Amino acid sequence: MFRCKSVEEIQSTVEKEGVSLPFAQTTKVLTESVQAGSLHLNNRIAIQPMEGCDGTPDGKPDELTLRRYDRFAASGAGLIWEEATAVCEEGRANPRQLWICPENVDAFKAMNERIREISMKENGFAPKIIMQATHSGRYSKPHGKPEPIIAYQNPLFEKDSPIPAENIITDEALDRLTEQLGQAAKLAQQAGFDGVDIKACHRYLDSELLSAYERPGRYGGSFENRTRLLREGVQNAKANITGDFAVTSRLNIYDGFPYPYGFGVSPNGGLNPDLSEPLRLVGILHEELGMDLIDLTIGNPYVNPHVNRPADWQPYDLPEEPLVGVARMLDCIHTIQKAYPKLNIIGSGLTYLRQFAPLMAAGAIEQGYFTIAGFGRMSFAYPQFAKEILAGRELDSRQCCIACGKCTQLMRMGSTAGCVVRDKLYTDLYRSLTAKKEG
Ligand SMILES: Cc1cc2nc3c(=O)[nH]c(=O)nc-3n(C[C@H](O)[C@H](O)[C@H](O)COP(=O)(O)O)c2cc1C
Repeated sequence: MFRCKSVEEIQSTVEKEGVSLPFAQTTKVLTESVQAGSLHLNNRIAIQPMEGCDGTPDGKPDELTLRRYDRFAASGAGLIWEEATAVCEEGRANPRQLWICPENVDAFKAMNERIREISMKENGFAPKIIMQATHSGRYSKPHGKPEPIIAYQNPLFEKDSPIPAENIITDEALDRLTEQLGQAAKLAQQAGFDGVDIKACHRYLDSELLSAYERPGRYGGSFENRTRLLREGVQNAKANITGDFAVTSRLNIYDGFPYPYGFGVSPNGGLNPDLSEPLRLVGILHEELGMDLIDLTIGNPYVNPHVNRPADWQPYDLPEEPLVGVARMLDCIHTIQKAYPKLNIIGSGLTYLRQFAPLMAAGAIEQGYFTIAGFGRMSFAYPQFAKEILAGRELDSRQCCIACGKCTQLMRMGSTAGCVVRDKLYTDLYRSLTAKKEG
């Protein structure tokens, strides 16, 4: 349980654990602008993609979606990375997941215009907006129950209920998906986004393929094959857009599962990171495919959420001090940023630090861990957090995310997601859902 009352207490806690975290004296660096390729960002604060599971059944933003993005728009963050948006119906993670298709372009466009208007009014600038293009793979639930589409069978993930081999996506279907990713980029540009993310994180389909060591065919086995969907998805996206439009990726650089089930993990067994392949992949994306901005993360929210989003609550006994999880995330990202100092890297997993997160984010930027600070759960709990940082004020601990995991629990219950502790709408929703379950 997070009980630290000062940066010094955090530092002494992590020191006892044999790890370290960077801290700055002030948060000033977060207020600086960044030029990430064609994207001019007003400051170094990004809102990370956070699914609300609250779109219309046909995948347009709905009332609660607009409510969330209105709040993010007012926040003052320089970059808003919109949530996972499916590129095909069968790849939707839930029946209310956003879906980019020609019929929905106008609805996304209206939401993006609204975000820019609100931010202009509140903050005097328009944030840059990225669309996260996804296929949910083994987590696909387009009709509310699992309809998994997998890269390969994985006993670690399928312990009690193995997924049949017929659910393994074929090479031909992956070829079509590459085309769909290109089409999604085109539609995202029409919808007024500033860029598209070819999502390859958290073990959704494109991320799972990165560890398909034993899959036969053109998408498995060699490094070249395992990275094919991502590389060709990026290439196709670039071929389908015009002018200044960013093609980026949210990428897992360490999965936290033993070989042969994890990317970025030592092939010699155990869970130690081995970032040689992630380094090579980022090098290709940056130096060969011209990616100027990338959003890095690690882990999986279902099987090892303590790796993915350090919290005081997990669906199993806490396996480690959550601050160790924060340090692991930062260290992995740091390794990549050191190798590619000109690449604009967004760092993840900062929210656990609560009111001290901005000083750690600033320290990480000053010490070269990453370039832009991405905040996920904090933005649900305390959407005004960026405004406070930009004004040079400390965050109010009573408004910060407390990493209780209830936003995720709401999603797992098939509901819409938001902050149960700080946002009354979701406090009431959570109460009514849990009362129903108990009653
Ligand atoms: C409710 C919820 C929804 C999320 N949805 C997405 C998503 O759509 N795409 C994505 O890449 N990550 C998603 N994430 C992960 C966050 O972007 C972020 O990586 C994670 O929460 C750790 O960062 P934090 O410590 O700042 O919260 C989600 C996390 C939560 C809790």
